[in-house]
Amino acid sequence: MKRIFSGIQPSGSLQLGNYLGAIRNWAKMQNDYECIFCVVDLHAITLPQDPLAMRAATREVAAGVIAGGVNPETCIIFNQSQVPEHAELAWLFNCVARLGWLNRMTQFKEKAGKDRDGAFVGLYTYPVLQAADILAYKATDVPVGEDQKQHIELCRDIAQAFNSMFEIDFFPLPEARIQKAAARIMSLRDGRKKMSKSDPSDYSRINMTDGPDAIAQKIKKAKTDPYPLPDSLDELDQRPEAQNLITIFAALCERSEESVLSEFAGKGFGDFKRYLAELAVEIMGPIGKEMQRLMNYPDEVDSILNHGANKAREIAKPIVSEAKEIVGFLKP
Ligand code: TYM
Repeated sequence: MKRIFSGIQPSGSLQLGNYLGAIRNWAKMQNDYECIFCVVDLHAITLPQDPLAMRAATREVAAGVIAGGVNPETCIIFNQSQVPEHAELAWLFNCVARLGWLNRMTQFKEKAGKDRDGAFVGLYTYPVLQAADILAYKATDVPVGEDQKQHIELCRDIAQAFNSMFEIDFFPLPEARIQKAAARIMSLRDGRKKMSKSDPSDYSRINMTDGPDAIAQKIKKAKTDPYPLPDSLDELDQRPEAQNLITIFAALCERSEESVLSEFAGKGFGDFKRYLAELAVEIMGPIGKEMQRLMNYPDEVDSILNHGANKAREIAKPIVSEAKEIVGFLKP
């Protein structure tokens, strides 16, 4: 059976983009693959985190993955720092990846901003750790949103470079599995910016734990333009905020954008937003409730993560040991 690996950072509240772009696909793929899903706390500290908040966010992400439909009895769910092989393999890969490859990473440029010299070294080598996450399990498929595509390409480059450096066919070249329909959900305040858990404005996103009132309020306040909805996808393409709301609607009810547009063409945003809010509450409401319920049982969540970490380690340990041997380290 093919093996999936994917991860989410515990660096804030889970938002609709995480659900539609990642978690929902994980749930859909879980019966066809061996699945490993990781709360990537080592990645989260590449930007400063409050330790208490990160501990809570780690449990929240785990709760979100489970409430989003991933079965913890058949899938491995764990937090990254419990499996030391991730960091160990990342070091080997730091000595395979080239500066030039990392210099091209757009996410580093965005996150480091203007003060590059002030950024943590970890933020720069972050994609190398991401490659180690995937390859420590020899995963073949990586379901992610569009923003992670470049990182998965780098992972393939690292796997290939390792294999050719040591003249061995050891690591597979994993494929990014990007669902077109919700590959990139944008901010509710700016249709050109990605919806993100780290955006300072809470009105820019729908959190997975938002109740019906908050969801309706955020959709009502979402930025729009003054024109009625168009009747063609080409016209929609020129209007980022309208495009984003249609994308969200279509993704939530799993219809094509074309069919949603034909239903609402010519209508104003007032009407459309009311339907969208109803739909979002219907789909996200029960998931948010289940997440809240699970978060009331932190011991249960911790025990799922511990159990998952033990199972993950059973897979990663022999693979990383073999990689160390290939590199030329003496066996203990
Ligand atoms: P992170 O925590 O930013 O996001 C987790 C997943 O959610 C997707 N996503 C979105 N999809 C559509 N629209 C959006 N607005 C949106 N926002 C987030 C992301 O594409 C991602 O799939 N580096 C990764 C975590 C990671 C990882 C890995 C992923 C670490 N190691 C190994 C895959 C394999 C990240 O920061 O995701």
